Amino acid sequence: MLKIGVFGAGHLGKFHLNNWKEIEGVQLVGFYDPGDRTAKSVTEKYQLKRYTDPEELMQLIDAADIAAPTNFHFELCKMAVYMGKHVFVEKPMCNTMEEAHELVKLVKEANVKLQVGHVERFNPAFLAVKDLQLNPMFIEVHRLSQFNPRGTEVSVILDLMIHDIDIILSLVKSNVKQVHANGVAVMTDTPDIANVRIEFDNGCVANLTSSRISMKKMRKIRLFQRDAYIGIDFLEKKSEIIKMKDSEDKEAFTFDIETKNGTKTIAVSNPVVKDVNAIKMELEQFKDSIINNQSTAVTEVDGLRAMDVAHQILQKIQRSIAS
Ligand SMILES: NC(=O)c1ccc[n+]([C@@H]2O[C@H](COP(=O)([O-])OP(=O)(O)OC[C@H]3O[C@@H](n4cnc5c(N)ncnc54)[C@H](O)[C@@H]3O)[C@@H](O)[C@H]2O)c1
Repeated sequence: MLKIGVFGAGHLGKFHLNNWKEIEGVQLVGFYDPGDRTAKSVTEKYQLKRYTDPEELMQLIDAADIAAPTNFHFELCKMAVYMGKHVFVEKPMCNTMEEAHELVKLVKEANVKLQVGHVERFNPAFLAVKDLQLNPMFIEVHRLSQFNPRGTEVSVILDLMIHDIDIILSLVKSNVKQVHANGVAVMTDTPDIANVRIEFDNGCVANLTSSRISMKKMRKIRLFQRDAYIGIDFLEKKSEIIKMKDSEDKEAFTFDIETKNGTKTIAVSNPVVKDVNAIKMELEQFKDSIINNQSTAVTEVDGLRAMDVAHQILQKIQRSIAS
């Protein structure tokens, strides 16, 4: 049995508790949350012991699941890693780049596993297409949500856009060449809406818009490449592929268009999207990577890379506001 402790039992921590309870081979030892009201309801609902000293809980477990607000991620991760414990930490991995670099170093020295909660990697709409031959040259991203004070201790870049940054970095096998960004703080002290252009060495360009002050929700990534368009709707959990007709693809809806080079047949298909619980799947894979001594699905280096791009974006926005 892998012994787990949950640090932070708020909105996301409770989702984690629900899922850990369903995962085989795991023993939930207890949770740490400084909020008395939250702690009381969690103890009652989950029949789980509350610890008021994080170190005491840390001593009793094999792995820490950290779902506290982002500004506490580093100190809790550091405590866990110093004590030789594996770590699952919610996104973004840390708050500052100094913290992220230090954590990567500590994880390596302690030889423990760390997985970052970039849960969109497990979104069924993404799983349905991620193993296709993806080589996007232009990427259009929209992540829009209504305002919610939760998560506003950090900017919309670290709160929402970081999900898309991680997905893009997992798809584009090239280094970031340049970042352009604009953002506005409307409801909080940090950018609530931002538009970003990321240019890669291989010529790929990603255009991202993230907002936490929109009237309607949207979470879409559109990939354009030499022979195809791939649309991924993370909210509706649907994917779409439009490409030149592949004779093996019998399921696709097709139509003809006239071009200068003759008639081309276009095929439209919707890959099968499996019914997957993304949070359960990411936690299960974290557990498996510990048991099988394998790399985690989203490593501390992935977490650092996403943070690095996010911080470049934040610097560009700050400069554009100052000038
Ligand atoms: N992966 C995702 O899609 C996703 C979605 C939402 C939030 N998150 C991340 O999860 C984290 C938590 O967000 P949330 O929405 O659950 O917030 P929340 O405010 O609902 O919950 C945070 C909980 O942590 C507790 N807490 C405060 N200080 C703590 C400390 N020092 N140690 C332990 N617990 C502490 C609070 O009392 C609260 O109960 C954030 O880092 C956020 O970015 C990820």
